Amino acid sequence: MSLVNEIHKRRTFGIISHPDAGKTTLTEKLLLFGGAIQEAGAVKSNKIKKGATSDFMEIERQRGISVATSVLAFIYKDKKINILDTPGHKDFAEDTFRTLTAVDSVIVVIDVAKGVEEQTEKLVRVCRMRNIPMIVFINKLDREGKDAFDLLDEVEQKLGLKVTPLSFPIGMGFDFKGIYNIWEKNINLFTGQNKQTVEDTIAFDDIQNLELDNIIGESHAEELRDNLELVYEVYPKFDQQAYMDGDLQPVFFGSALNNFGVRELLDCFTEIAPSPLPKHAEERLVKPEEPKFSGFVFKIHANMDPKHRDRLAFIKIVSGTFERNKPYLHIRHNKKLKFSSPNAFFAEKKEIVDISYAGDIIGLHDTGNFKIGDTLTEGEQLHFKGIPSFSPEHFRYINNADPMKSKQLSKGILQLMDEGVAQMFVLEFNGRKIIGTVGALQYEVIQYRLEHEYGAKCSYENFPAHKVCWIDDREADPVELKEFLRVKNKFLAKDKEERLVFLADSEFTIQMTQQKYPSVKLQFVSEFE
Ligand code: G4P
Repeated sequence: MSLVNEIHKRRTFGIISHPDAGKTTLTEKLLLFGGAIQEAGAVKSNKIKKGATSDFMEIERQRGISVATSVLAFIYKDKKINILDTPGHKDFAEDTFRTLTAVDSVIVVIDVAKGVEEQTEKLVRVCRMRNIPMIVFINKLDREGKDAFDLLDEVEQKLGLKVTPLSFPIGMGFDFKGIYNIWEKNINLFTGQNKQTVEDTIAFDDIQNLELDNIIGESHAEELRDNLELVYEVYPKFDQQAYMDGDLQPVFFGSALNNFGVRELLDCFTEIAPSPLPKHAEERLVKPEEPKFSGFVFKIHANMDPKHRDRLAFIKIVSGTFERNKPYLHIRHNKKLKFSSPNAFFAEKKEIVDISYAGDIIGLHDTGNFKIGDTLTEGEQLHFKGIPSFSPEHFRYINNADPMKSKQLSKGILQLMDEGVAQMFVLEFNGRKIIGTVGALQYEVIQYRLEHEYGAKCSYENFPAHKVCWIDDREADPVELKEFLRVKNKFLAKDKEERLVFLADSEFTIQMTQQKYPSVKLQFVSEFE
């Protein structure tokens, strides 16, 4: 098969949701359709149980599982589907943000009873920033929940999306009868008994047909007709280009647990979701169909075995094909590297493959060569954009608790930061190191891993910062900039790329600083537009 055909077969996407909305369950059902697993319950939940803050066995177990479920690939209707797993736990949100740089589209899962939740808002904001095509799946229709129209309103308002329902529920909760599939023009009746297989659908392109009353009852039929009329009146028609541009989001309803509405979602997804998209490098736009390989590292996973400190670097192939044992240029090190055992992922297994195509994810064994954001090519100087750091929410000084092991500590910290476990900032005026994280759990992970993998001990001390602001001085007035740097001296630090940041202690400080030094722009993301 030609390169172009292979690429057009691929659908690489991520599922995002607030914890407990049903991401794991939906993933599992999708795999079931792909024949990648035989029974429900086979996908291990990639979740850290609530209250597991100090349960290190749980963290370790989690790390093992998340390697296995990092990429779940399967074939469905001749399409190669790559699902990139995104951790639901909010303390690992940074990891999810990075994974979103490697997807070509996203499915957003929302709980019908809870509606739009905090984590969904944050993640969708990142997708919107990048215009990622999104499909919304409203889950748990077998339970009592919010009114469908209210929910659609909520999705539009809280998530800033423009929706078009492609299916619509008939009843809900106890009275849930099924869904009308606007996309395929048929009805799927809910029995609640078919958790493993596909239910039969009844073709129904004329909703006025009185047969409908016989099937779902008069009152449900009337209600459905009214609802659909409203849908057609209020919401725009599906438009492929608008969806691809991130301007319109189709919505499906269903129940992942009951395997209901999932086939509809998957069928529509394979039809409309984008095949691998071009990606911007600093130098130029790189297209997937280009014959020469290029790719970038979006995730690094430490190996489970602490004795061999090797890691798995996850690469998204942006263009061409990646071949085993062929030398590729590591741009940051300006060094050619060969990989004898690149891993590809299939369902929950990983296996060594000879060739992978644009859109695929491969796992490369790494002994410390890679950092998140690194680019590999066949020789061309390319630097892929779009793996920014976001401001952490927690900040602590990190101290060496065992003076005999200071080398190990430094090395450990650097490697953990390369993996993207947290961000480190070095204060300009005294050189002290500050670790910034998205959640408190990371501090325990770092302490534990430093001790078990590097034999180093650390302690923490609170640092009173609220947010990291990257300093954009491209249009700064030199006098104003000088004054800013002098006055804020004690709160200035460098991030891992040696970019200057201001550690602000409150929103108020940020506001005051912006007012006082308007030409010095404070940014909350490390990559500037
Ligand atoms: P997550 O990955 O988004 O965090 O959610 P997950 O799939 O683990 O689902 C969270 C809970 O919601 C699970 O129940 C799951 O069974 C349930 N669930 C998922 N889809 C549906 C649905 O369509 N209807 C109903 N009624 N429930 C659904 P749990 O009790 O927390 O876990 P478990 O003991 O069932 O594994």
